[in-house]
Order: sequence, then C-alpha cells, then structure tokens
Amino acid sequence: MRQPPRISLARLPTPLEPMDRLSAELQNAGIDTRIWIKRDDLTDTVASGNKIRKLEFSIGQALADGADVLVTWGGVQSNHCRATAQLAARLGLKSHLVLRGREPDEVDGNLLIDRLVGANITFAALPEYQRMDETYGELQDTYAKQGLRTYRIPVGASDEVGLWGYIAGAEELKADFRSQGLLPDAIVSATGSGGTLAGLILGNNLHNLGTGIYAFNVCDDEAYFLNKISEDIAAWQARYDASVQPSDVPINVVDGYVGPGYGRATPEVFETINRVAQLEGIVLDPVYTGKAFHGMLSELEHGRFRGMKNVVFVHTGGMLGLFPQKHELFASDVK
Ligand SMILES: Cc1ncc(COP(=O)(O)O)c(C=O)c1O
Repeated sequence: MRQPPRISLARLPTPLEPMDRLSAELQNAGIDTRIWIKRDDLTDTVASGNKIRKLEFSIGQALADGADVLVTWGGVQSNHCRATAQLAARLGLKSHLVLRGREPDEVDGNLLIDRLVGANITFAALPEYQRMDETYGELQDTYAKQGLRTYRIPVGASDEVGLWGYIAGAEELKADFRSQGLLPDAIVSATGSGGTLAGLILGNNLHNLGTGIYAFNVCDDEAYFLNKISEDIAAWQARYDASVQPSDVPINVVDGYVGPGYGRATPEVFETINRVAQLEGIVLDPVYTGKAFHGMLSELEHGRFRGMKNVVFVHTGGMLGLFPQKHELFASDVK
C-alpha cells in the first residue's frame, strides 16, 4: 500500500483515561459500563481536537505539492477552519477560509482565533458556499497572480488524504489498549464530515483492534453518512492501492441525536455537558462531542450499547464552540 506524506503537528500520543466518577454514577443507576475517554481535545492548545490529526496528512500533501495558501470551507464556528488557519500561521503559510453564512456582529469562539492568526476570510451565503469548484478556481487565479500556489482541503479535511489521521489514531489506540490491558466493546465518536469515522473504521481493520466503531451523526442522517464514508473509503482504496474495500468494513452510524439541527442542541445535551464538566472536569461542546456523548449515554441506558462493559469515547475537541452558546448552557436546570 502507498503511504501519504505526513508532517508532525499534534502533541501525541494523547491520554486514554477512565471516567471513574461518571462510571460509578452509571453503576448506581444499574448500568455496568466503564467509560473511557481518549483525550484528543489535548492534541494542541489552539489547533486542538481531531482536525489536527487529519491535517498532518492534508498539510503534508500540500507541502509536498509546493503550496503557499491552504484553502478550506466550513461554518462560521468551524473547528476545522480554525485549526487550518492556526497551523498555516504556525508553518508560515497563508490560509483562506470560505465560511458559510453572514459575518456575525460579535467575533467569538473559533472565528476570533481565525481573525487572530490572520486568515483571509470570505463569508458566503449557502448557494454561493456550495459552488466550491467555482470559488476555488477564482481563489487559485487570485493567488496565482501574486505568485502563490493554493492547496484545496475539503470540508473537515474529510477525504482519502485526511482520513489517514484516524488510521494513525487507531494505531495509537491499539497501543493504549495494550498498555491498559483493555479490549473495549466500542469506540464512539461524533461524525460531522465523516473523516474521523472513516479513519477509525479503516484503522480498526488494518491494525486489528477487534472492536466496534460507532459514530453519532450531528447533522444529515445515517444514509448520508453511509454513502459519504463508502465514497471516501473507495477513493482511499484506489489512491493508495489498499486491499480493504468499503464492503469489507461495517459502518455504524447511530442516528437520532441531531436534535433541532446542526449546531443546535436540546436542553438534554446541555445538561450532559454540565454533568460531565462537574463530575469529571471535562468540557464537551454542543455541536459535536456533547451530542455524541449524550447519545452514547442514552444508548447505554436503553439502546444498542446496553450490556457493554467498556466503551471508549473519542473526545474530538471543539471547546471554542461552547462560547458562542453560553446562554443556552446556563439555561439548563442542572445545578
Ligand atoms: C469537535 C469536533 N468533533 C467531531 C467532529 C466530527 O469529525 P468529522 O468531521 O471527521 O466527522 C468535528 C468536525 O466535524 C469537530 O469539529
């Protein structure tokens, strides 16, 4: 199998820790599961979260291609865009972010960091945002006139290049499991653009973790993600001449926890965020990790995770997304 270029950016390995107070609380409620957390919120300070793992490969490829400007897309509060912008600054590159929606009156959270690290930003309403090929062509021309070469990173760095990040992440988890003497029933994460899940699925297969990989979708639905992940795996298989085909690996997307929509969470999700922060000192976010964690607890109580003994939650970061939603957070009833 061909190997992609990679540069070292994340602070690895991240810790795998048991959540003992939460697990004890679950036990009191009749749920005999030990919850573990893979602290990928600790991959960096400013570029923290899951994206930096993928960007080790996406930016590795960009540098191999001689790029000067990283171009990417996302929501106004995109963690991926913030990580890309910060890493570009760290490496002496430029970044250009195309952000979906109107420029907000108040600069907060991820957008504040985008501005601080000097990203060039275009705000685009939905129809314009979706014309990515056209926009990229225009940006390519604009930067070429300045003698600069662009590199296109898709939404969430979720393509056949970026998914290597969690193939490597799965290898790291294998070493964690060995040192902890652990064989978990499931590894659980949020899925938003699919790359983390695709990488974990492939890593589980390539590195023989022997566990189940599950992700809670925070937007769209199960059918969308089954298709997106199969496409990314097929592109990966073709590009790197790999033996694993999409049909060789189960894709488990747990639907039903999107709530009011992408970026908007129910009061129950905010309650879970409060509960985990107060019990364990771990901060989740309302867009990704809070929804997935809430989903995981619900499925342990009365769904497909019932009876599992050890479950590993991958904390994919996203804390900056909490700040623009601070009012909803404290509207929750939990003391
Ligand atoms: C904090 C956080 N967690 C999880 C995800 C989901 O990861 P992926 O886009 O690889 O599906 C994202 C990005 O979408 C994210 O920013």
